[in-house]
Amino acid sequence: MNIIEIIQQGVIKGVKHLYEADVNADQINLNNTRKEFEGDYTIVVFPFVKMARKKPEQVGEELGSFLIEEVNEITGFNVIKGFLNLTVSDDYWLGFLENIHNNPSYGQHPSNGKKVMVEFSSPNTNKPLHLGHVRNILLGWSASQILAAAGYEVVKVQIVNDRGIAICKSMLAWLKFGEGATPESTKIKSDHFVGDYYVLFEAKFKEEYNQWQESEAGKTVFQEKSKEEQSEAAFFKAFKNTYFNQYSHLGKEAKEMLIQWEKGDAEVVALWKKMNNWVYEGFEETYIKLGVNFDKLYYESDTYLLGKEVVQKGMEKGLFYQKEDNSVWINLEDAKLDHKLVLRSDGTSVYMTQDIGTAMRRYEDYGVDKMVYVVADEQNYHFQVLFEIMKRLEEPYAEGLHHLSYGMVDLPTGKMKSREGTVVDADDLIEEVVKEATANSKERGAVTDLSNEEQEEIVWNIGLAALKFFIIKVFPKKRMVFNPKESVDMQGQTGPYVQNAYVRVRSVLRKAEEMDLNWSASKSYAKLEPLEKDILAQLFQFPFLIKEAAEDFDPSTIANFCYTLAKTYHRFYHDHSILKAETESAIAFRLKLSQAISNVLKMGMRLLGIEMPERM
Ligand code: ARG
Repeated sequence: MNIIEIIQQGVIKGVKHLYEADVNADQINLNNTRKEFEGDYTIVVFPFVKMARKKPEQVGEELGSFLIEEVNEITGFNVIKGFLNLTVSDDYWLGFLENIHNNPSYGQHPSNGKKVMVEFSSPNTNKPLHLGHVRNILLGWSASQILAAAGYEVVKVQIVNDRGIAICKSMLAWLKFGEGATPESTKIKSDHFVGDYYVLFEAKFKEEYNQWQESEAGKTVFQEKSKEEQSEAAFFKAFKNTYFNQYSHLGKEAKEMLIQWEKGDAEVVALWKKMNNWVYEGFEETYIKLGVNFDKLYYESDTYLLGKEVVQKGMEKGLFYQKEDNSVWINLEDAKLDHKLVLRSDGTSVYMTQDIGTAMRRYEDYGVDKMVYVVADEQNYHFQVLFEIMKRLEEPYAEGLHHLSYGMVDLPTGKMKSREGTVVDADDLIEEVVKEATANSKERGAVTDLSNEEQEEIVWNIGLAALKFFIIKVFPKKRMVFNPKESVDMQGQTGPYVQNAYVRVRSVLRKAEEMDLNWSASKSYAKLEPLEKDILAQLFQFPFLIKEAAEDFDPSTIANFCYTLAKTYHRFYHDHSILKAETESAIAFRLKLSQAISNVLKMGMRLLGIEMPERM
């Protein structure tokens, strides 16, 4: 039994003995004691006041006395109003440390026999990954690691939205204007290369539109429109799609290409493969830089037809209905949602259709209990609708669907404009943080004795830790600003700050290895310092926190835990001697405490996808 269970059992026994009442563990409100009071754990006594028919203070006194008598691990108590503060014996904590200090996987839960699929990244194939994807990937990766640590079997997947009009735009632009150029011939990273043709398409399209506006045909259309409707802003808001679909040559060609693709035209399919493969190569480089990987990739081109089939079958059952124009819809009004389109009037599938098919294919493949979708909050409605549809289709996993929704990431104004001026490429961002880390490291001049290669590895490691920690520490649903300079600040609430605490612990432990010490003396360490107890209580929390973070799909709590532990260790290091402590037993105890801290920091940060350096 751990200390929480020990206290709970004691309280259950005490309430029975004192007041002849039954309580269960869930009714016991147990917290860490607030810093300003004496004690380690605090029980709220109000729930027992009714049973006892006594004043809260008296109940606290009686329960406290009982616990001291009956529970070996409790050595003291005090009552403040309705709160009973309990002091845990040093012996308990020493035993706890003895058990965990040498266990590098402390915090890992045994298998719970459940399988969860985590979908993240899931880009479209017409553009490189951008800042939003970075938050997505970091959240998806850390959520996966945390779920695995909580005992789940985790399957990491993506849906690659690899078909549709967007990729046809890149393909068309390359055919028309590319003159056979390739990523190799231009030495451009291959996903950026394809993205550039998407941007080029948009530019040519706009050019075409401007010319059309001046033409007779355009003028005729525009005469019917008001001044406001004719403005460029209105074009990009309201008229762009109409123009693309009805008047544009480029639009017509792109749509024709999509039709040919759906028919399986050999040339179009070959071009599609070539360009998508370029994109995948580029994505893979970025994933490697970020240190992430996937167990399986799903492609929309493989699942959209299954989605169509499901819709057609569902129509026979009356789940979906057809409008006069042949488009197919589902009515979700009684779930407080709208009517939703699932097949267009020409029979082609929409974004929702492929998601229905993909979910089913995934369940066929893995039989998971839960599926988590890491997708930006712009798509909240989409997932409400998708999950409702899956329930109506009576899918066995429908209750286990979860949207891990997250807010936008902005950059401080004026920072790092990308080529398009709006989005920031993931690759550029990574380069930027590593640059910041390098500058910061030069300033400190800490590892100049190492080879260039080693130094480069260290600043790379610090830069990525900075990027990852800064983003993950924010509650996912919150919109945030990513500030590269702040993210590498060794004094701030940052990844490098936590790494620095780890480096400090490791250096102490390395020194200890060279000394002739009596490690078993720790058992006779007589009196724990408040900071030592504080650290032990934090370490004790770690496995519970992992479980909570997994249940809430919230990696930010782990990041904040690591920061607090690092901070407490920095303080401890400052206030107390470790290797030069007064007694042999204090040295041994503090070293074991340091070992435990280094293990937990390493594991905690690993759950966030962050490596810990030995030096920095
Ligand atoms: N590719 C989509 C986009 O970039 C995101 C896909 C999210 N996942 C899903 N199952 N719909 O907007």
